[in-house]
Amino acid sequence: MKAIQAHPHQGLNGLTLVDLPDPGEPGPVAIRVRVHATSLNFHDLGVVTGRMPCADGRIPMADGAGVVEAVGSEVTEFKPGDHVVSTFFPTWLDGEATLSDFATTPGDGIDGYAREVVVAPATSFTHAPVGWSHAASATLTTAGVTAWRALVVNGGLEAGDSVLVLGTGGVSIFALQIAQAMGATVIATSSSNEKLERLSTMGAAHVINYRQDENWGDRVLDLTGGTGVHHVVEVGGPGTLAQSIRAARVGGHIALIGVLTGRAGDVPTAMLMARQQRLQGLIVGSRRHQMDLIRSIDAIHVHPLIDRSFPLAELANAFRFQESGGHFGKIVVEF
Ligand SMILES: NC(=O)c1ccc[n+]([C@@H]2O[C@H](COP(=O)([O-])OP(=O)(O)OC[C@H]3O[C@@H](n4cnc5c(N)ncnc54)[C@H](OP(=O)(O)O)[C@@H]3O)[C@@H](O)[C@H]2O)c1
Repeated sequence: MKAIQAHPHQGLNGLTLVDLPDPGEPGPVAIRVRVHATSLNFHDLGVVTGRMPCADGRIPMADGAGVVEAVGSEVTEFKPGDHVVSTFFPTWLDGEATLSDFATTPGDGIDGYAREVVVAPATSFTHAPVGWSHAASATLTTAGVTAWRALVVNGGLEAGDSVLVLGTGGVSIFALQIAQAMGATVIATSSSNEKLERLSTMGAAHVINYRQDENWGDRVLDLTGGTGVHHVVEVGGPGTLAQSIRAARVGGHIALIGVLTGRAGDVPTAMLMARQQRLQGLIVGSRRHQMDLIRSIDAIHVHPLIDRSFPLAELANAFRFQESGGHFGKIVVEF
């Protein structure tokens, strides 16, 4: 079977198309899946470029969607022909989070989905949304579940709430779509005026160019009559958190998700405290969160926005496109 292996010390040039032995038939609790699509996340880019340490030769990509080809003797949840999508934490099935690293995450601590066939425990997958393409389903594992958990699970999003999303990457566009579908008002930022126009077309109530307006937190306060937003989907990290705290209302919720501007920095703790805001870190979610998202997704009419699709052999070019920052929403690889 064809697969891509990463050699992070060589950066994107180290992504190599290889032929690996077929993984064979599944054991009693496993399923065999023919993978047809994966989607790119900032985390995957970090792995293949060596920012996140991983084993040399690792098969990258946390997200995978495809068709079940065979099931183990004890598997009752799936049957051959079912369309499935992988989970970010194959061992975190339900309940409170207990993991704080990526040791069990496909494409990081274990081999991921840049390969044609995977044999893994059945609990490493959920059913895919009915009628979706594999490419669309593959966007759910990381970006979809993260946006869902930030707003709905942790945030308790309600109709009428206001939501601030930062930039136009995979998580942020998913968050905008989920928030709008659930009756919230969205304020969105981008570095590109062209992308701001697209955000408005998608229904964002207000848009802000965060490059042109460095004090975008104050601008959000202005746009909300001095009150601030109920939720911030904070994908920036240390370089944006101060503005996000400024932008959130008293008692507001900030989902601390991303590291786009770095991994550590100053936090205006007094403002966070005075505003009595809730700052909640998270990494993706459990299998249960993914199942809840998929159960809800048809009812709220959310469908992922895919910017561009690449073939498996062009995974490196897909990452180059992501690095360029030209994308809006998700980038996928189909095979
Ligand atoms: N904790 C978790 O569970 C989790 C899960 C998924 C992702 N993440 C993190 O969330 C972040 C986004 O991930 P992703 O996969 O959605 O990335 P992505 O698709 O590569 O999105 C990158 C986009 O972020 C925007 N951006 C860059 N710098 C920014 C800044 N200073 N302020 C506001 N926006 C900025 C840009 O949008 P414009 O071009 O519009 O400016 C850029 O296109 C990453 O840090 C990633 O590690 C965390």
